[in-house]
Amino acid sequence: MSEGDGYAGIEEFYDYTIPYRDRQDVHFYVDEALRAGGPVLEVGCGTGRVLIPVARAGAVITGLDASDAMLSVCRKKLECEPEEIRRNVRLVYGDMRSFDLGTVFSLVTVPFRPFQHLLTVEDQLACLAALRRHLAPEGRLILDLFNPSLQFLGDPKTLETPLEEPPFEMPDGRRVLRRIRILSRDLYKQVQQIVIEHEVTGPDGVNIHRSGPLTLRYIFRYEIEHLLARAGFELETVYADYDRSPYGSKYPGDLICLARRT
Ligand SMILES: C[S@@+](CC[C@H](N)C(=O)[O-])C[C@H]1O[C@@H](n2cnc3c(N)ncnc32)[C@H](O)[C@@H]1O
Repeated sequence: MSEGDGYAGIEEFYDYTIPYRDRQDVHFYVDEALRAGGPVLEVGCGTGRVLIPVARAGAVITGLDASDAMLSVCRKKLECEPEEIRRNVRLVYGDMRSFDLGTVFSLVTVPFRPFQHLLTVEDQLACLAALRRHLAPEGRLILDLFNPSLQFLGDPKTLETPLEEPPFEMPDGRRVLRRIRILSRDLYKQVQQIVIEHEVTGPDGVNIHRSGPLTLRYIFRYEIEHLLARAGFELETVYADYDRSPYGSKYPGDLICLARRT
């Protein structure tokens, strides 16, 4: 990752976190993988939250990630899958800015915002060049970003008060309370530094697990269109949601870009 493995130490909670567990994007990626009719590359595959359902649907998929911690969760989950699903999957440790798998894919996806970990235009263009090299001529790229909310960014209270989510329970009975603290926000560089805290209550008392910190860059709709064009992509569709509602139909919504090679 651009800043070390910011997910190490919190990876075991990822799949149980309510907003991740309930995210309505998996069916969208499964549909797109089946529609592509060829091998899929998921960049920033993490714990396999999307990758495993795609493999279960019958697609052949390679997952790339720069976090050993996240990949190890994915590997453990795969061990519980039957052989006919496991053989559809290849996992690779690598950086999305500089990888070379020596093959091309019908579909390249970057689900749930890994691209926002890239903090400079140079890194963004290096990543898009790597994605393009791995895309078959008629293939498609799906780059999934959040649409920045101007109200949220302009509200100083969001820097003072951590966002606390309802608690959830781990399979072993530990109770977890998750908080996201925004440590800093640079409105000029379009970056926010956050830390994700997990307050875990178990038989041995209360422990706090912290992420990274993680630094994320937010990107606006026409900014991504220009970046894609510089990298040799043409934007085909932009969705605001995984139900395929068009960009602009809700605010802020998501910024889900479907692009082809020019
Ligand atoms: C929010 S998670 C998304 C994981 C998964 N795609 C999902 O939908 O649940 C972001 C992932 O991007 C990965 N990542 C961040 N920077 C990366 C980089 N430079 N190269 C490859 N992966 C990266 C992280 O390790 C993490 O697993």
